[in-house]
Amino acid sequence: MAKLKTIYACTACGAQSPKWLGQCGDCGAWGTVQEETLIRSVATQATDVSVVSINEVDSMEVDRQTTGVPGFDRVLGGGLVPGSLVLIGGEPGIGKSTLLTEVAGRIAAAGGTALYLSGEESPRQVKLRAARIGALGAGFLVGGTTSLEECIQAMTSSAPDIVIVDSIQTLSSQTIDSAAGSVSQVRGCAAALQAAVKGSDTVLVLVGHVTKEGSIAGPKVLEHLVDTVVTFEGDGFGALRTLRAAKNRFGSVNEISVFSMGEKGLTEVENPSQALLAERQTDAPGSAVFAAIEGSRALLLEVQALVAPNYTNNPRRTVSGLDFNRAMLVLGVMEKRCGFRLGSYDVFINVVGGVQIREPGADLALFLAVASSLKDVAVPADLVAFGEIGLTGEIRSVGDSQRRLAEAARMGFKRAAVSQNVKSGQAVSGIKAGGLRDV
Ligand code: TYD
Ligand code: MG
Repeated sequence: MAKLKTIYACTACGAQSPKWLGQCGDCGAWGTVQEETLIRSVATQATDVSVVSINEVDSMEVDRQTTGVPGFDRVLGGGLVPGSLVLIGGEPGIGKSTLLTEVAGRIAAAGGTALYLSGEESPRQVKLRAARIGALGAGFLVGGTTSLEECIQAMTSSAPDIVIVDSIQTLSSQTIDSAAGSVSQVRGCAAALQAAVKGSDTVLVLVGHVTKEGSIAGPKVLEHLVDTVVTFEGDGFGALRTLRAAKNRFGSVNEISVFSMGEKGLTEVENPSQALLAERQTDAPGSAVFAAIEGSRALLLEVQALVAPNYTNNPRRTVSGLDFNRAMLVLGVMEKRCGFRLGSYDVFINVVGGVQIREPGADLALFLAVASSLKDVAVPADLVAFGEIGLTGEIRSVGDSQRRLAEAARMGFKRAAVSQNVKSGQAVSGIKAGGLRDV
C-alpha cells in the first residue's frame, strides 16, 4: 500500500519540514525549501531479524579493487571496496565525468567490466571523452538514460564490477511523484540503486552536482546513505583540482590528491606544494605560506589577503578557501589584541588553487597575510607559518609539526613561525622554527 503525503524539503541539506520556509531551519540556506510529494510504503507486517553475538559476526575482509587512478585510490583509502557506495560531489565542470571515464577505461583495460550510465550526455559524447583521454575498451559499457528503472535493468543484465551513475540528479523513477533533482527523487533513486547492488560485489559510484543556487538537491542529501563521499574542488579557472574524502567508512578522511586538467584529461600532480606555490609573488605584500596537513601528507598553501580602504559604512569581508567564522575570529583578534584598525577596510581572503582549508592551523598564516597587506610589507619569502590563534591572542600548537617543517624545508623555506609549544625535539634540519607565545 502506498500513501501520498506533501512535505517540504531543503535541496541543500535535505532537511524536511511540515510547512514551507523561506530559510532552511537546518542549514540556514535561503530559498532552497521546495514542496514535494512523498509516497510512503506502509509496512503491514513485522519481520524477524536474526541477532548473534558480536564474536560470531563474520569479520569483513576488505579486499580493495584498484581504480587504475592512483590518486583516486589514495583518497579512497587504497582502492574501491567491493559492494560499497561512493558519492563524488563537485561543481559542474570540475572534472567528475573525466575522472570516472578514466576509471571505467582503466577497469576495462584490466579485464573488468565498467558500466557508465549517463543521464547528462549521450553515449556518443561519453565515447568522445573516453577517446580523448585514451579510455576506450571492450569492457567499458555505456548507457544513456535518465530512467531509474532502465538503469537497474542495465545493471542486472550486465553484472559489472563498477557502475557509474552520472549524475544522480538527472535520474528519476516512475514511482516517485516529483521532478528529477528533487530531494525525494535523489534519495529514492539512490536508495533503489543501492538496493539493486546490495549483496553483490558491484561498486556503485554516484556523481552529484553541487550548485550554489540550490535548485537541485545537492550531494548533502545523500551523505548519510553512502559509504564514502569524495569531493572534487578547484577554483574553477585554474587547472589544479583537489580530490578529497569527506566521509569514508573504509579509510581515513581528508586524504587528498591534486590533479591538473589538461588536453588529455586529468594527471596527478606529483609535487602539489610546488604546483600550488608556482605563481606566488614572493615580494608582494598580502601573501603568506601555510604548512598544512591534509590526510597523511604535508602540503604548502599560499594564503592571500587584500586589505583595501572602504569609503562606505559597510566594509566587506570575502573569504574563500577558509572557514568564514574562523577568518573573522582572526580579524577580531587583530583588532582587539594588536590594535590593527580594520573597520574602514575591505578584507578579501583567498587560498590559492581552490583548496579548502579545514584546520585552524592556518590562523597564523592568515594573520600574517592580512597584516602584510595592511602594512604593505611583504612577508619574508623564506618564511612559512602554522599555528592556531586563540581568543586571547595566544598561539597554540597544531599536530604534526615535524612533517609540516620537513615539507617546508624540502621546498627551500628557511624559517617557520610556529607556537612556542612546538618542542625542540620536533626540529627539522635546514629550517629554523621560531616559537611564538602570542600575536
Ligand atoms: P567534466 O569531467 O565534464 O566535468 P564535470 O563532469 O565535473 O561537470 O570536465 C570538465 C572540463 O574539463 C570541461 O570544461 C572540459 C575540460 N576537459 C579538459 O580540459 N580536458 C579533457 O581531456 C577533458 C575530457 C575535459
Ligand atoms: Mg559531468
